[in-house]
Amino acid sequence: MKPSTLAEAQNAIRHLVTAVANAGLYSPEHPQISRLCEASRRCFENLLCDKGILSLLMVEGDVLFDDFPLPSGLHTRKLARLMERRHIHRMVVTAGVQTEELQDLTTYLATRKSAGGNPPDHGHLRFESLTAPCPPGPDKPSGVPASGDGNPLHSVKVSGQHRLAEIFEGFVHKQPVRITGLSEVVSDFIHAFHREIPSLLTLMPLRAMDEYTFTHGLNVCLLNLAQAMHLGIKGELLHDIGVAALLHDIGKLSIPVDILNKPGKLDDREWELMKQHPTEGAKRLLDSPGVPQLAILTAFEHHIRYDLSGYPTVHNQWSQHLCSQMTTISDIYDAVRTKRPYSAPQPPEKCAAILQKMAGREIHPQLAANFLYLLENRQDQP
Ligand SMILES: [Fe+2]
Ligand SMILES: [Fe+2]
Repeated sequence: MKPSTLAEAQNAIRHLVTAVANAGLYSPEHPQISRLCEASRRCFENLLCDKGILSLLMVEGDVLFDDFPLPSGLHTRKLARLMERRHIHRMVVTAGVQTEELQDLTTYLATRKSAGGNPPDHGHLRFESLTAPCPPGPDKPSGVPASGDGNPLHSVKVSGQHRLAEIFEGFVHKQPVRITGLSEVVSDFIHAFHREIPSLLTLMPLRAMDEYTFTHGLNVCLLNLAQAMHLGIKGELLHDIGVAALLHDIGKLSIPVDILNKPGKLDDREWELMKQHPTEGAKRLLDSPGVPQLAILTAFEHHIRYDLSGYPTVHNQWSQHLCSQMTTISDIYDAVRTKRPYSAPQPPEKCAAILQKMAGREIHPQLAANFLYLLENRQDQP
């Protein structure tokens, strides 16, 4: 496949998937969705000028464009997942495809599966299924165990926990971080947030003492995404903020578990070791191709305080990235809110009081206010 064709196919998919993500937020007529569908249509039209017909085949999370496998990326995986959840395995596009047809498809893919309905199989878009569709039921990603509470975000989190555990396991064995898997975890979260937001902050389970850093990473990821989305952050930056949160404590995997889980106070030697996890994490992430720069920076900066105290020590003109400062808040909240080897879990009111006290000194005052607003306006009490 020519590089220009490949790029055009990837662009067509990227615009379409972004339109679906936006359709979870806005009405189908929203100009943003029309604009994205029109951009996708133009790409399809360019691809169709030679032979008038093309096909996208979904195979276990990958997309084959006219039987040529596209490189696995955030948007191709998303499209495959969106389609496969609705038992669509092939989409055929013919010359003359209209923006409205892509808008109908976008609406269909963004609608909860449990709402039923058929794909808009008419005109210049055709869909084929290789299996018989299941009866309508709760929307649940394939392969994810039932959560029991019917909350799709919970299911996504369970799935994310398994994937993250595998990735971190590899990291312990000195393998580079697999950014592909991490991106999937984050985009699943973002997608679930867009579609169903009962209360982001009540979904964190209490953490058992012997659980690993990945559980904390997932909690901090959820909290970071909640903060960032409430600030209106979208797209690639939102994604990178989520990935950075997942990886912020990855340097802790170099620290012996008995120190990490020590019930009492750390001695001087243990504390010195513990304080190395930000630099250790950043160094290791630098060696992992594809990891966003923001994740490296956040791993390094997340224990630096707003007044530049904390660790590692930095010069007094240091400017801490907003993502690191969000992560600091999420990190503190999760540490206080959940059960630790050395402390009992605290109720949300107590956590809020702690953050309030730190605001303007150890944590960014406006970000703290944003976070406290989210806490106060959660819909359910844990
Ligand atoms: Fe940390
Ligand atoms: Fe942390």
